[in-house]
Amino acid sequence: MKSSHILFLLVSTLICSTALAEERVIPEFDRYDAEDIMDVCAGCHGEYGQGTPDGEYPRLAGQDPVYLARQIEAFKSRKRINIPMIPYANDRELPPEDVRTITAYLASINLPRHLKPLKPGEKFDAFERLEESKRVLNIPHYPGDPKKGERFYHRECASCHGEKGEGNWKKHAPMLTGQHPKYLLRQIDKIRKGERFHDSVDDAELFREYSDRQIADMLAWLSRQDD
Ligand code: HEC
Ligand code: HEC
Repeated sequence: MKSSHILFLLVSTLICSTALAEERVIPEFDRYDAEDIMDVCAGCHGEYGQGTPDGEYPRLAGQDPVYLARQIEAFKSRKRINIPMIPYANDRELPPEDVRTITAYLASINLPRHLKPLKPGEKFDAFERLEESKRVLNIPHYPGDPKKGERFYHRECASCHGEKGEGNWKKHAPMLTGQHPKYLLRQIDKIRKGERFHDSVDDAELFREYSDRQIADMLAWLSRQDD
């Protein structure tokens, strides 16, 4: 390869990675205020916003802050019904400045996919290891055919939710990889029933055309993207 080509490659890689970094700008927030608000959310969504594997409570950590804020607004206006959050989703409990703080804080939480192996010679500290392990989130493999799921996902969903389901902070399409599959399944069910808004008003009908098998295969593929 000519050196000019290598330079071109280097420059374009740099531009691409900066573009991703620019896309994922987390607004500044007051950590003290954020942790105070988080005390309330942690009761259901977990100390690190990791959600629960049974899909009852979604993961919030690492999600696009604009997307999160839009959901809270939708809960407040009851455009999206979320009964457990009714006592919190109102302007008295969660005024706009608190929404800005907590959504920026949640977006900034990085959950490792694996427990880091001990470096050679590193001392084993049981307490530290336990604390670290609480932050690890790796979605267990969902039953289905991931090969078929990949084709379906790339045809129908990747243009907005990203090549690997990582989400798109420009389009404010949430990450699906790393989210609990049972939670996603419940949302898809709500979209089909017209109980939850998706990207366009016609999506309820579109989602009803997808078979349960196609959805399960897609979840099987998504659940393998954070291995
Ligand atoms: C009493 C339990 C409970 C508490 C406390 C709670 N939530 Fe939730 N939250 C839920 C449930 C349940 C859902 C999922 C609702 C559904 O299935 O549509 C949810 C969903 C959400 C979502 C939507 C996530 C997505 O992927 O669309 C956001 C954002 C959210 N909560 C933010 C918060 C914040 C911020 C707090 C703290 C101020 C909080 N929640 C406190 C129960 C709770
Ligand atoms: C044209 C863009 C677009 C396409 C294509 C698309 N989505 Fe979405 N999706 C969105 C947007 C935007 C949202 C956020 C909607 C909101 O604000 O409530 C969303 C939200 C979701 C949610 C809710 C996630 C959560 O955390 O609560 C699920 C589940 C979902 N999409 C699944 C899918 C699946 C499955 C496909 C493919 C069959 C798909 N989407 C295709 C744009 C898209």
